[in-house]
Amino acid sequence: MSERPRLASRERFLMRDALPGGLPFGEDIRLGLTSRPKSIPPRYFYDPLGSALFTAICELPEYTITRAETEILRGSAAAMARMFAAPARVVELGSGDSRKSSLLLEALLERQPALTYVPIDVDAGVLESSARELLASNPSLTIEAVCADFRDIAELLTPASGRTVALFLGSTIGNLDPPAAASLLRNIRRILARGDVLLLGADLRKPKEILEPAYNDALGVTAAFNLNLLTRINRELGGHFDVAKFAHRAFFNEEASRIEMHLASRERQSISIDALRLDVHFEAGETIHTENSYKYTDGDIDTLAREGGFDVQQRWRDAGMSFTDVLMVAR
Ligand code: SAH
Ligand code: AVI
Repeated sequence: MSERPRLASRERFLMRDALPGGLPFGEDIRLGLTSRPKSIPPRYFYDPLGSALFTAICELPEYTITRAETEILRGSAAAMARMFAAPARVVELGSGDSRKSSLLLEALLERQPALTYVPIDVDAGVLESSARELLASNPSLTIEAVCADFRDIAELLTPASGRTVALFLGSTIGNLDPPAAASLLRNIRRILARGDVLLLGADLRKPKEILEPAYNDALGVTAAFNLNLLTRINRELGGHFDVAKFAHRAFFNEEASRIEMHLASRERQSISIDALRLDVHFEAGETIHTENSYKYTDGDIDTLAREGGFDVQQRWRDAGMSFTDVLMVAR
């Protein structure tokens, strides 16, 4: 792991680069494209274009997650901040543009003189741009960003002397399958003291007539977000994908309670990837599975909390009953 501390903005911003060196993207692509069925881990969506496309997805009329969670946080940030009990630090997994978390940070800073924010994300660009905005409007905030895979949280951070609040918003938990989600909660638990809290955002299960359009928007932004994976392989690994020869597919798998996203080959074709010295063969219609997005019931969240070492303390929902934020306490 390389560590390159960088100071900026009057020394209130530190960014630690803790992504593994070498060719982990290439090795994950080799593994995923030589497996059956083919797959690519969803964390690779988030290069500079992918993060910008995700920001655009959040504005789409069909995609309710961001608006619903913003409504919950706008309405309840002050009450949540009271329950957080003057933390020394707020650690956020998959912080992205930090727009929703800023509502909580600002509510905390109305109650206490200073706070350290520790956003963890794989995209260094989004960490820097969101930190710049947060620091400009919050003079008593210090940011210690970590560019890393949040699954390594227990190796990246140690328990703090004061209280820690962990945030995992936006239903990014839903991009992990249930065993991986429980294992991540146990890892989050390891950087917390007993009584510290985790605020977890999760998209609720709803009819597929509502869910499927959210991942098949009329403008094709989600299709671009999905297809950008192939562009990234072309750019970073010397891939020869013709993006026009793949189609975006997204559907609700009722049994598993998840949206699945795939890239389907429009024809029989072979693609070479120079940096991997690899030729990948596709049959017509064969897919690369690129993402799962699990949809939860309250009971699923209770199970997840219990397996992760937490007790559910309070739940909030938006008026449309589409999304939930759940406050859980470390046991
Ligand atoms: N929390 C924000 C952003 C959600 S998008 C919101 O609710 O709107 C998911 C974010 O998690 C992206 O910024 C992406 O770069 C990051 N991410 C996805 N997988 C990750 C991983 N394994 N480790 C660290 N960050 C990850
Ligand atoms: C980040 N994550 C919660 C989004 C989701 O809804 O699963 C990513 C996304 N994929 C397609 N659209 C949005």
